[in-house]
Amino acid sequence: YVLIFFLTFCGCTFLRMFNMFLLCVLLGVCCRDFSISLPQKIEALSGSCVIIKCTFEIREIFDKGLTERATGLWFKDRDKMNGHLVFHSTDPKPDHFNGEITGKLHEKNCTTVFYNVSSKHTGKYYFRIESGDLKYVYTVNASTINTLPPNPQCSCMWSRRSLRCSAETLCSSPPPTLTWSSTPRIPLSESSRLEELISDLNFTATHRQHRVTFTCTITYQLQDENKTAQDSITLHVQYSPKNTSVSVLPSSSVLEGSSVTLICSSDANPAVLNYTWSRESEGQMEQLETGHTLTFDRIDLKHRGSYHCTAQNQHGTQNSSVMLDIQYAPQISTSSSCARTDVTVCSCEADGNPSPELEWHLSGRPVTNSSNTFISEERLSSTGLKSSITLHQSLTHTSTLQCVSNNTHGNDEQLFHLVFITHKAPCKFKFNS
Ligand SMILES: *[C@@H]1O[C@H](CO)[C@@H](O)[C@H](O)[C@H]1NC(C)=O
Ligand SMILES: *[C@@H]1O[C@H](CO)[C@@H](O)[C@H](O)[C@H]1NC(C)=O
Ligand SMILES: *[C@@H]1O[C@H](CO)[C@@H](O)[C@H](O)[C@H]1NC(C)=O
Ligand SMILES: *[C@@H]1O[C@H](CO)[C@@H](O)[C@H](O)[C@H]1NC(C)=O
Ligand SMILES: *[C@@H]1O[C@H](CO)[C@@H](O)[C@H](O)[C@H]1NC(C)=O
Ligand SMILES: *[C@@H]1O[C@H](CO)[C@@H](O)[C@H](O)[C@H]1NC(C)=O
Ligand SMILES: *[C@@H]1O[C@H](CO)[C@@H](O)[C@H](O)[C@H]1NC(C)=O
Ligand SMILES: *[C@@H]1O[C@H](CO)[C@@H](O)[C@H](O)[C@H]1NC(C)=O
Ligand SMILES: *[C@@H]1O[C@H](CO)[C@@H](O)[C@H](O)[C@H]1NC(C)=O
Ligand SMILES: *[C@@H]1O[C@H](CO)[C@@H](O)[C@H](O)[C@H]1NC(C)=O
Repeated sequence: YVLIFFLTFCGCTFLRMFNMFLLCVLLGVCCRDFSISLPQKIEALSGSCVIIKCTFEIREIFDKGLTERATGLWFKDRDKMNGHLVFHSTDPKPDHFNGEITGKLHEKNCTTVFYNVSSKHTGKYYFRIESGDLKYVYTVNASTINTLPPNPQCSCMWSRRSLRCSAETLCSSPPPTLTWSSTPRIPLSESSRLEELISDLNFTATHRQHRVTFTCTITYQLQDENKTAQDSITLHVQYSPKNTSVSVLPSSSVLEGSSVTLICSSDANPAVLNYTWSRESEGQMEQLETGHTLTFDRIDLKHRGSYHCTAQNQHGTQNSSVMLDIQYAPQISTSSSCARTDVTVCSCEADGNPSPELEWHLSGRPVTNSSNTFISEERLSSTGLKSSITLHQSLTHTSTLQCVSNNTHGNDEQLFHLVFITHKAPCKFKFNS
């Protein structure tokens, strides 16, 4: 009974059967029969192509008959020849479907592609293999193709460190393409899986991408039209203060006594929680008030210095600073004096912003730098200037010497009375400011 069972089940010859029996016992498998494996349902885009992934199996005794000259046929809706043959791999007819068997039939791969899909492709497909004596229609399993109007879709989403756009890889020739609008600087990594076309933009989201909209487009080149679909995503990135800056109204160069407003601005998401001000003067930091602006009704020289504004939100801080340049008319210092040896040397120090100029007037007339009236100048600081004049004895009988200082904001002057006693003694002078 066991032998008869094998005989009928396998269709083996009696002699081979023994070997088979041993093989079956050894491997724990038994004889092959006809079977086919193909997807039950396939969705095809009208105007594109459709791939039927297909593998089949034959009864073992036909193994020898399956050669490279094998023919594959497809029937539609019925498993019979009459009017239902839609594809013949070696004898195509004009009314047959345009396509090809891309799998190798002798390797039992019946993968087939039909091109130029239209609604007439909708239906149930049965495969038939023919090779010599081998002629078999697989009626048990069939594939149903459903033709859809072209309606491509793609979707974008942000995950971890990349922006991903994915779309179905519906069959089309050439294959569909995914393209991104905006920022080609970002490296693109693309992959296509069986069912999905994926395009990733990998980057670390920074404030530069805040409110930037990325659009991805999938394009299918179909028979007589190009179908595209788009999806967009706008990134909302949170970031610590950026572009913090201090501006000064009316200007960072202000005249003493005028009103000044410092304005701090910064770009942050979420918005800046608080702005804090500090002043740096002669290496000392001094905390000032908080707030978006800092106002001085009457700016004074004591307000000189560098002002820092620190903007803060929950993600961090950023600071910016500005130098307040307070301008004022020159002032001649009380340390200005004359000294007399065999010549008379007078020096005059003035302080002003912008840096003042100094001039000497002898008896009301401007003195020029010469061997008799030698003038030397020395910068004391960005605002201070010292000028010294060396007068020859012959000139000291002139009773008045004037030091005149000016800048764009005003002037100051000082009068020296060159009233000399005959002995070597310091000259007397009098202020006349
Ligand atoms: C039918 O196809 C399915 C899926 O491809 C496969 O799992 C199954 O074995 C096939 N059935 C037959 C009888 O070939
Ligand atoms: C069948 O052939 C197709 C087309 O050449 C190929 O993509 C597929 O991997 C093959 N399948 C198997 C199981 O070899
Ligand atoms: C699809 O059809 C068009 C005309 O309708 C033809 O030009 C084209 O070659 C066909 N494509 C394929 C792959 O057969
Ligand atoms: C982008 O990220 C994906 C997923 O993390 C990774 O598989 C891919 O290799 C990355 N590509 C590039 C160009 O870094
Ligand atoms: C589709 O797009 C391709 C590539 O851009 C172009 O060559 C082709 O002419 C387009 N076809 C149609 C029908 O617009
Ligand atoms: C900062 O300023 C630069 C130049 O003005 C600008 O391109 C950039 O977008 C700004 N950054 C932010 C976060 O606003
Ligand atoms: C600014 O706001 C943050 C958050 O509320 C707080 O921690 C910080 O102390 C504030 N800074 C000042 C100087 O008020
Ligand atoms: C400003 O920022 C710099 C760099 O982050 C830091 O070194 C400096 O101490 C900050 N200055 C103030 C006044 O907060
Ligand atoms: C005056 O002239 C001398 C020599 O010619 C020169 O060294 C000096 O710098 C001049 N003083 C001024 C204020 O120009
Ligand atoms: C200073 O006064 C002189 C003469 O009045 C003038 O020529 C010069 O331009 C003034 N300098 C400045 C900086 O105003």
